[in-house]
Amino acid sequence: MPTQPKSTPEVEAIFRRSMAALAAGVSVVTGMDPDGSPRGLTVTSLASYSANPPSVIVCVDETCNSYGALAAGKHFAVNLLHAGQPEVAKLFASGAADKFDHVNWTVWNGCTPLLVDALGVIICSRATTTVHGDHAIVIGDVIDGSIRPAPPLVYWNRNFHEGPGHLAGSERQCPQ
Ligand SMILES: Cc1cc2nc3c(=O)[nH]c(=O)nc-3n(C[C@H](O)[C@H](O)[C@H](O)COP(=O)(O)O)c2cc1C
Repeated sequence: MPTQPKSTPEVEAIFRRSMAALAAGVSVVTGMDPDGSPRGLTVTSLASYSANPPSVIVCVDETCNSYGALAAGKHFAVNLLHAGQPEVAKLFASGAADKFDHVNWTVWNGCTPLLVDALGVIICSRATTTVHGDHAIVIGDVIDGSIRPAPPLVYWNRNFHEGPGHLAGSERQCPQ
C-alpha cells in the first residue's frame, strides 16, 4: 500500500480555494444496485480520459450511497445537467433515499437509470476502478449518448451558474 503525503491545514485551505476558483460542469452520475435500486450523485469530477477508446473518469467518495453501483457495476451513466437544473443538482447532492421519486427517469437497456430531462447523457461500460485516498476513480468506456442544445449548469465559487451558451445543431435523442 503506497504511503500518502501528510496534509496540513494550509494545504487543505489552498486546495479548497483553488477548487472554488475552478469552474466545472455539473453532472449526475447514475447506476443500479444489484437489487435494482437506482443510485445517483451530483459530481463535478467528470473528465474526459481518452479519445481512443472514447472514455471518461469520475471520482466517487467511498462512503456515499451510490458507491457500490458505480464502482462495481457493469454500466453507469453521466447525466450532464443544464442551467435550469440547480435543484436536481442539490437533490442528487443530498443523501436522500428517495431522490428518483422527484425526477423523470428511465432505464437504459434494462440496467442503467437515466435522467430524461438532462442536457445530455453519456452511457458507459465500466472499464476499471482505482482507489486513492477516500475516493475511487471510475473509468468508463463510452458506448452511447445523447445531447441537446441548452446552456450547461456550472459550479463556481460554491454556487451554481448558467454556462456561456449552447452547442448549435447538437440534438440527439436519449437512447433507450
Ligand atoms: C457541486 C457538487 C459537486 C460534487 N462532486 C462530487 C464528486 O465529484 N464526487 C463525489 O463523490 N461527490 C461529489 N459531491 C458530493 C455528492 O453529491 C454527495 O456526497 C451526495 O450526497 C452523495 O449521494 P449518495 O450518498 O446518495 O450517493 C458533489 C456535491 C456537489 C454539490
